[in-house]
Amino acid sequence: MCGIVGYIGNKDSLSVLLEGLRRLEYRGYDSSGVALLEKGNIRIVKTPGKIKDLDSLLRKEKISQSVIGIAHTRWATHGAPTKLNAHPHTDCRNNFSIVHNGIIENFASLKKELVKQGHKFISETDTEVVAHLIEKYYKGDLKKAFLQALARLKGSFAIVLLSKKHPDRLLFARQGSPLIVGVGKNENFLASDVPAILSHTNRVIYVKDAQAGEIRKNKVSLFDIKGRPQPVKIEKVLWDLESAQKSGYAHFMLKEIHEQPQVLKHLSCAGIKFDKKLISILKNTKQIFIVACGTAYHSGMVGKYAIEEMTKIPVAVDLSSEFRYRSPIIDNQSVLIAISQSGETADTLAAVREAKNKDAKIISICNAVGSSLVRESDFVLYTHAGPEIGVASTKAYTAQLMVLYLLALNIAKVKKTLPKSVISRYANILCDTHNQARTILKNSTRHISEIAGRHHNFGSFLFLGRNVNYPSALEGALKLKEISYIPAEGYAAGEMKHGPIALIDEYRAVVCIATESKIYEKMISNIQEIEARKGKIVIIATYGNADIKRHSKEVIFIPKVEELFSPILVALPLQLFAYYVAAKRGCDIDQPRNLAKSVTVE
Ligand code: M6R
Repeated sequence: MCGIVGYIGNKDSLSVLLEGLRRLEYRGYDSSGVALLEKGNIRIVKTPGKIKDLDSLLRKEKISQSVIGIAHTRWATHGAPTKLNAHPHTDCRNNFSIVHNGIIENFASLKKELVKQGHKFISETDTEVVAHLIEKYYKGDLKKAFLQALARLKGSFAIVLLSKKHPDRLLFARQGSPLIVGVGKNENFLASDVPAILSHTNRVIYVKDAQAGEIRKNKVSLFDIKGRPQPVKIEKVLWDLESAQKSGYAHFMLKEIHEQPQVLKHLSCAGIKFDKKLISILKNTKQIFIVACGTAYHSGMVGKYAIEEMTKIPVAVDLSSEFRYRSPIIDNQSVLIAISQSGETADTLAAVREAKNKDAKIISICNAVGSSLVRESDFVLYTHAGPEIGVASTKAYTAQLMVLYLLALNIAKVKKTLPKSVISRYANILCDTHNQARTILKNSTRHISEIAGRHHNFGSFLFLGRNVNYPSALEGALKLKEISYIPAEGYAAGEMKHGPIALIDEYRAVVCIATESKIYEKMISNIQEIEARKGKIVIIATYGNADIKRHSKEVIFIPKVEELFSPILVALPLQLFAYYVAAKRGCDIDQPRNLAKSVTVE
């Protein structure tokens, strides 16, 4: 939620900040703004709408060259997305300007106190209190005032401060919301995420929780919340700007769908090095817990099938937001796997902390290097999917599935729960998955877009799957609803007769996953029940199944694969279908309404 950029150097800060904001727009896009130091004063320009609206507003304003500034793209929490509520915010005298990502939970009481002391507030946001607190505490020492203000805050935040009284520095702090420093030559940057600064530098510092700091043109310093100096560790980003650009695709989502073969190949064939200690802990555990949200939760559900089938270890999968409140029976013998693309999802982090309090071992499956989740885990398995910019998760999902399969296989190897011949057959299947994924993208993209063209006007969808493809049905429905805004529900096909069948008529579109499996016949029975009630059926089936056309002329074929591993391949047509339906409806695919890429609030 919300994207922050800060710059100090010799360049025109406005263009650096705007470029950074454009690359962070996936984090929030209901309003945006910049604050620049212009001729000794802070100049703030902000507006509701997208970055392009800010850009056109800025073109109309006469802004002098400035070499220091901060910027923000917002996903509203406190207060509607209006100009007044947009960041940056400032104090009564416009001496201190603030951008913030997160939530200040005690802002109401702080605001009351500050108003009593004469401070004038103009927005409904929680953020504005920070600027006024700094104003209150400032007696000539900016760092001291900043730290005093921080000490009063409860909640989660990444904050960047620009002060006209100290034009040579930006101060920053992080507690629960991501923030990085980009280290350049005669210039330094701050940002919520790497793409914002990658065209300038690939040297970054991942700011830790409860860490604050200061950037000047030629210096970066870090300190703890008491102001004590902390070591600076610079890391090199391994991917390049190309990975964070659309590269000719109409949308990031489409590009990311097409990157999946490459990501799967890297994971399955180049392989992940599994820490021996990690495998041995898993091998000996009596129970594995998996927590995640949204798409990552669906990958966790598939993970349960894979781990239980291959290792015989019971797995409980929970939505992170439910796990933390249900008093889970977990102790120092338990292992919790937290799955998250961003590594910043507030509910998943809270679930991890709940498990850590009970001394469980934490393994994370994560895409974002340096994220909070990674730092709070005992072991990390990276999905190495590269930056995922589209709000709808695609390549991160199939990468999570691949990591879970490989993990299950590695435990099975050590635990000897599968014969050697089966282990090597499974390893070969996984290693070939990227070729099959490539085949689907090559052979079916056009066909799927045509089917989408015949279905984009349906008022609602049902997605049905069984066994390991029940989570696929949930994922297909989530993909469709989040980017096309068509109500869509995923169901275990066996549950259809227990309620959803009442929905079926000629106006209902039903996507059925009927790939080759041990419960194929049962799926066909469900399909016949839908046919009998005139539902409009789209089927995902296995190449070579000529019979399936008897049930619907709308069939998408995928290559033959063992049922347990089919969710990776099934995901691709579901993603493409959602994409093309949304495209035909003219939806804002990469930035669907009301959503943000990483959900850093509860
Ligand atoms: O960053 P995470 O993987 O923790 O995010 C979890 C969900 O917010 C995320 O998967 C969300 O459901 C996506 N928009 C789905 O496409």
